[in-house]
Amino acid sequence: MMIPRLIERKRDGHALEPGEWRELIGAYVASRVPDYQMAAMAMAVVFQGLTPDELNELVDAMLTSGDRLEFTGYPMARVDKHSIGGVGDKTSLLLAPLIACCGLAVPMISGRGLGHTGGTLDKLESIAGFRTGLSLAEARSQLDRLGVVMLGQTPELVPADRKLYALRDVTGTVESVPLIAASIMSKKLAEDLTGLVLDIKTGSGAFITDPVQSRRLAETMIAIGEAHGCRTIGLLTAMDRPLGFACGNALEAAEAIAGLKGDGPADLMEVTYALGVEMLRVGRGEAGGGRRELENLIESGRALQKFREMVEAQGGDPRVVDDPARLPRAPVQRPLRSPEDGTVVRIEPRAVGHAIIRLGGGRAKADDVVDPAVGFVIPVKPGQRVGRGQLLATVHARDDASAEAALQSLRKAIHLGERANPWPLVSHRISKAGVEELSS
Ligand code: URA
Repeated sequence: MMIPRLIERKRDGHALEPGEWRELIGAYVASRVPDYQMAAMAMAVVFQGLTPDELNELVDAMLTSGDRLEFTGYPMARVDKHSIGGVGDKTSLLLAPLIACCGLAVPMISGRGLGHTGGTLDKLESIAGFRTGLSLAEARSQLDRLGVVMLGQTPELVPADRKLYALRDVTGTVESVPLIAASIMSKKLAEDLTGLVLDIKTGSGAFITDPVQSRRLAETMIAIGEAHGCRTIGLLTAMDRPLGFACGNALEAAEAIAGLKGDGPADLMEVTYALGVEMLRVGRGEAGGGRRELENLIESGRALQKFREMVEAQGGDPRVVDDPARLPRAPVQRPLRSPEDGTVVRIEPRAVGHAIIRLGGGRAKADDVVDPAVGFVIPVKPGQRVGRGQLLATVHARDDASAEAALQSLRKAIHLGERANPWPLVSHRISKAGVEELSS
């Protein structure tokens, strides 16, 4: 295989021949293709895209590059939810135990914070002792016992994506519909799911900011899922502002626990229930189940109990569930107050995410250590009227200097004015049958 010729063909807008993507990915995983050639190929795909046949071959090549969870003869439906990435998005921490209480198995493989977006694994690891680095055998055994497990991508699972993703992250080649679709779907299909719900974040805080491209991404991933026998549904949800109030790992874990106690912010619960209802649908068929079933599980404390059991099973301190003050707490807390009367018109999620990284709560480089305690609580929402002196946000920082810098960033991220135009929280439902506009 002459790699430079393959790169040139893709660069010039031609499709690779059948078998060539498989061979290329195999050679890359075996380190027979250097990173610089793979980076050039990824950039060619960013500009030229992939044909449906090329995309299918790429997904299969990535999927078969490692081991998978295996469920032959398993009696239960297995469902998961995956978000494209956002700021303040802690819905996974609520949904995994909630849906497991509904008799569906939830083998949830999640990621770490990426760019300006937060990651489920970092949030879970803010709970002292919580282990996300489970082997596939450990994950399977916990799933059999509890019906839920939340873990990271193991070294044996889709190694092609581990390698390619790290390369894309540092070569400006993340933002590509076929590359994102192949990356996410190869990992999700390796979970051997029967149903998958995609949370396609849209807006300035998402990786794909253009709603038309978001829809294309959803349709691409749904086609891949359905072709592999996994019922796949996508919801387009707003990421033009952070979700919920808390942004930062331990702060978000605390907010998720509050949500499981029935005390979560309205927007967080709205998106959680919308995704949860879809998880029930892909797991049980169209009759699915309703929001009421999920609300009951929260009101009765069953979802919280399932979360407690999961924390304990994965080595975490279950006492945080009853006493979230046990989560790491930053030593410096500073308020940001409104300088005037007005309306909150925008809260820029990307700016908030970058400010968290500067506080130490995210990564600028893959091997950075994350400070779980730092972040923001922003209790206002676009459209809300505020008075002069009203609390807009609280900064949680390690020291005075970083708190001051974060306050400055937040002043630029939270815009006051006259008229807000926030996107609908959940705007579209996309399935293989087509696109449905929702009103919420
Ligand atoms: N998340 C992934 O896992 N892969 C991508 O390419 C983008 C977001």
